[in-house]
Amino acid sequence: MRVVFLGAPGVGKGTQAELVASTYHIPKISTGDLLRSAVSQKTPLGLEAKQFMDRGDLVPDQVVIGLVEEKISSPEGAHGFILDGFPRTVAQADELSKQLEAKDASLDKVIYFVIPREEIVRRLSGRRSCSKCPAVFHVEFVPPKVAGQCDECEGELIQRNDDKKETVESRLSVYEEQTMPLIHYYKQRSLLEELDGSGSVETVQSRLLALFPAP
Ligand code: AP5
Repeated sequence: MRVVFLGAPGVGKGTQAELVASTYHIPKISTGDLLRSAVSQKTPLGLEAKQFMDRGDLVPDQVVIGLVEEKISSPEGAHGFILDGFPRTVAQADELSKQLEAKDASLDKVIYFVIPREEIVRRLSGRRSCSKCPAVFHVEFVPPKVAGQCDECEGELIQRNDDKKETVESRLSVYEEQTMPLIHYYKQRSLLEELDGSGSVETVQSRLLALFPAP
């Protein structure tokens, strides 16, 4: 199963990708997680990416394309994957399709998550991310068992720099300008499935799993 999760920042892609990846035993490939890991390790790629991420801009296509190529070509990605947050531009989508064609493979579906804009802002403003592992919580909707502490690894929960109000607005504009054209792109290729992302995590998960064959 080769699937793309597409949608605005904060719509719940990462949360659902984690759940679907563990249900189907396939990797979740999140360009946001890969980039944040490079930033925290202060690699040259991370140092370059940080400037773009802090402003809410997209990291240059060639940087993220290289990261994804490495993952989908690894043995881990051989039997399928969920791409969370990639592609985000038409150039990235074209490159992904070239890489898959070269492996005689193709995408099965693109799930387009939709929730109202005010709900996106509520989800992003209350998001808390673990400083040590990829776990994500929400102060109101997905609270940790102990306030400020990750349920998985007991790491400290922090607010992402780009979840601050001014950066959220800029991320949403970048999404509208550069990523929304992919809705038409994948609709034309008959790959797009729209998913109502509102409601609890469990409600969204059951709607989502109904779009896939039983595990
Ligand atoms: P990235 O990390 O990909 O950010 P994003 O797409 O903006 O997505 P988010 O992680 O903000 O949201 P999400 O949809 O995963 O929501 P989540 O599940 O966490 O990218 C960050 C940056 O990296 C970009 O701005 C860019 O600079 C760079 N980048 C990444 N990929 C790139 C690419 N391909 N090209 C160029 N640059 C790239 O949920 C949000 C919150 O809501 C959480 O608190 C969660 O607990 C809560 N929540 C989830 N589901 C529900 C629910 N059903 N009900 C209530 N709360 C919920």
